[in-house]
Amino acid sequence: MRQDIKKAFSDVFGKTEELRVFFAPGRVNLIGEHTDYNGGYVFPCALTIGTYAAVRERGDRLVRMYSENFKEDGIKECSLDDIRYKEEDGWANYPKGVMAEYLGSGFSLPHGFDIVFWGNIPNGAGLSSSASIELVTAVIFNQSHHLQADMLDLVKMAQAAENSFIGVNCGIMDQFAIGMGKKHHAMLLDCDTLSYEYAKLNMSGLSLVIANTNKKRSLAGSGYNKRRQECREALQDLQKHLSIQSLGELAPSAFDTRAGLIQNETNRRRAKHAVYENYRAKKTAEMFSKNELGQIGELMRESHLSLRHDYEVTSPELDALAEAAWSHGGVIGSRMTGAGFGGCTISIVKEDAVQDFIETAGARYKEQTGRKADFYTADIGAGARELKEDDYGDSGTCGTFDPIRPAKRTDFTP
Ligand code: GLA
Repeated sequence: MRQDIKKAFSDVFGKTEELRVFFAPGRVNLIGEHTDYNGGYVFPCALTIGTYAAVRERGDRLVRMYSENFKEDGIKECSLDDIRYKEEDGWANYPKGVMAEYLGSGFSLPHGFDIVFWGNIPNGAGLSSSASIELVTAVIFNQSHHLQADMLDLVKMAQAAENSFIGVNCGIMDQFAIGMGKKHHAMLLDCDTLSYEYAKLNMSGLSLVIANTNKKRSLAGSGYNKRRQECREALQDLQKHLSIQSLGELAPSAFDTRAGLIQNETNRRRAKHAVYENYRAKKTAEMFSKNELGQIGELMRESHLSLRHDYEVTSPELDALAEAAWSHGGVIGSRMTGAGFGGCTISIVKEDAVQDFIETAGARYKEQTGRKADFYTADIGAGARELKEDDYGDSGTCGTFDPIRPAKRTDFTP
């Protein structure tokens, strides 16, 4: 990977000896969906696929950026003295948003860079390709300008960039998981206090399989901000009678006795999901520590059903994939992951059943939706960082540039 991205850099910006290479992973959330902006818990992990960046310092204040994933867009350019959101800059608005956050937070950015990005996270699949390019940019500026911000600051700046520059009111889960990821570990994060624990996942004999519906979703154009608003309204109704700051403070039983205080029926269902999902996230982490696979499977299924019926962010494609997984004997658990409205499911599958699962679920999905699903076995990797000589990034063996080709990908055409 290091050589590939260096070559891409020299093709675009010319040969150079002074390249540095950075990497930020994608993330998958095991459970705890739409709880982060409700002051609840999430249980995500960083992946080994992600966004690479080859970087050379410039003597002036220009930043020139090129993405191997969007070659047709050519080089995007901005000055550190004039950073504005521009529709026509497309993907480059994400790194620009991070630069704007640095400047807005009072950091001095003395010079610009030439940067080539390349990512192997399927775009629009709910695996956080946008947070990944944000964090890799944040690390580039932090390291190269010796800004000494800690990772949590970078995480918060990346989230702020997404909120104010891109206009998606996301919570902190994606940026946190990508910044703070740890190999072989998931993170149980309390999004209210940002306290967290790493949980080593005992995956012996098991695989994490991500299935992409190939139905892209766009957060900005989706109902994501609407769901946030509905939860806020539900909270405001509850606050007229209860002294709580977030839905995450309510246990399911406390919610059940007060649910009637929420005036609007839709908002009541949204809040119910947030409260119960928060409980499920904590419970799942506990069940992982006890290796209670049966319970984990049940919690994942409940999560999906709640996202389907109460939060209404699944899609016929996500439901078809989840149902196909539930009916397979080798599957421990399965659910949609990420924001929803399309994207991916995550399944825990017995290692020796993975191939059969992919074939059977893939065929069933094709039959029901007419679409082809892509399956990936996911490995849990470390967080955003500069790649040193002995660190090739986790998908370092992937030799070719293919925008949506993770290192370990299992295609199946039924
Ligand atoms: C997106 C957002 C996250 C989180 C999830 C849903 O990925 O970026 O902050 O809200 O959706 O759990």
